[in-house]
Amino acid sequence: MTRYKKQDPEITRRKFINAALGAGAAVGTVSLVTTLGAAKPAFRLTPDKAPPQEGDILVHADASKEGQPIKISDLSENLVAAWPMGKDKDGNNVIRKGEPNNQLAVFRFEQGGFEEPGKDDHAELKLDGIINGQVVAYSNKCTHAGCAVPNDPNDATKLFCPCHSGQYDALRGCKVTGGPPPRAMPQLPIKLENDQLVVTETFVTAPYGFLTEGDWEQYREQVKEILG
Ligand code: FES
Repeated sequence: MTRYKKQDPEITRRKFINAALGAGAAVGTVSLVTTLGAAKPAFRLTPDKAPPQEGDILVHADASKEGQPIKISDLSENLVAAWPMGKDKDGNNVIRKGEPNNQLAVFRFEQGGFEEPGKDDHAELKLDGIINGQVVAYSNKCTHAGCAVPNDPNDATKLFCPCHSGQYDALRGCKVTGGPPPRAMPQLPIKLENDQLVVTETFVTAPYGFLTEGDWEQYREQVKEILG
């Protein structure tokens, strides 16, 4: 991952995962990925590596406008890549791009199109975290092995993972509709404030790399303590 400037155990972890995938041990690898993810060391956290926090704003991730706040008028059915941007302890802006799960996909759909996923879908959709019943944000890391997932070229409301053909439905909490991903890419609830997209809480379910929802909850709690 070129975004990291220095080698650390997190990079080693991801390199190891990639090597394991190359060996083709798909089922064993997924279990390995999530097990390693459960050991994500919160004590090494810096603000750029923290998960999205309440009050963060969504900014463009595209190199041509990186760091510019996203406006509703920038959005359509085709995903816009975003990062959450918060503050460090001194009040300086920090784009949280040190954590790959923070790579976000933001969409604007027709009003009334969303539908809550079913009980067995391993997905959650908070309708009050969708702006005007139209604008929704998700983590854009495939829960199978962490690839970025673009729009399905045949249907803008769906996403299609180029790595192993995982499919997700952006209108139904990014629930999995095909392929090997074990669960949805999590929603990031947002609201509109002063024309900006503002995070109201962090990912509603476990993003890529966490073994269980319990592990994710525990990590969130540790993060809260560290960031204050
Ligand atoms: S990384 Fe395997 S389906 Fe997305």
